[in-house]
Amino acid sequence: MKMSSMMPDVQEVLIPSDEIQAKLRELGTRITTDYRGEKPLLIGILRGAIVVMGDLMRNIDLQCEIDFMDISSYGSGTSSSGVVRILKDLEEDITGRRVLIVEDIIDTGLTLSYLLRSLQARKPASLEICSLLSKPSRRRVDLDVKYLGFEVPDEFVVGYGLDYAGAYRNLPDICILKPEVFGGA
Ligand code: IMP
Ligand code: MG
Repeated sequence: MKMSSMMPDVQEVLIPSDEIQAKLRELGTRITTDYRGEKPLLIGILRGAIVVMGDLMRNIDLQCEIDFMDISSYGSGTSSSGVVRILKDLEEDITGRRVLIVEDIIDTGLTLSYLLRSLQARKPASLEICSLLSKPSRRRVDLDVKYLGFEVPDEFVVGYGLDYAGAYRNLPDICILKPEVFGGA
């Protein structure tokens, strides 16, 4: 495959695209088995999760539906308060539905735990989490991630939907950027 023009900014490829695809096939197979005979609703959290959503759903052999939410975290600077504002709500009513949240990465877990409480109040039949990545060393709340792709170290990663200042989402691999890219001269 042609080398990405963004590669000069990359320090290390942490998870190459073929490993991501293999993992999504595995997760898709598990989800297909677990939701057999049902029509789950996959909820992607914008914007990072759209790449995972696109590849994951093609590995789910069921009549599933998709919907999206856009949320922003209140809080000052780097500390996430865990209180989120819903910028774009779901189009679908999730009452009585089997819902699977699709995320790119779980860091502190604060955003997702707030979102879970808010969605639980709408009385879905079930509510589970699928996340491509998790940074367990950063976790501040306990979250049960039923479908997890990879655990990653406490490093800022980009690619495969994840951004730095809006860029690098279209890199096919999960990468660590060179320190000089982060503007610190
Ligand atoms: P938290 O779990 O509430 O701390 O926030 C998770 C969100 O922070 C993710 O959905 C990402 O949008 C963002 N995030 C956390 N770690 C990274 C990273 O390494 N790269 C890019 N975005 C990240
Ligand atoms: Mg996100």
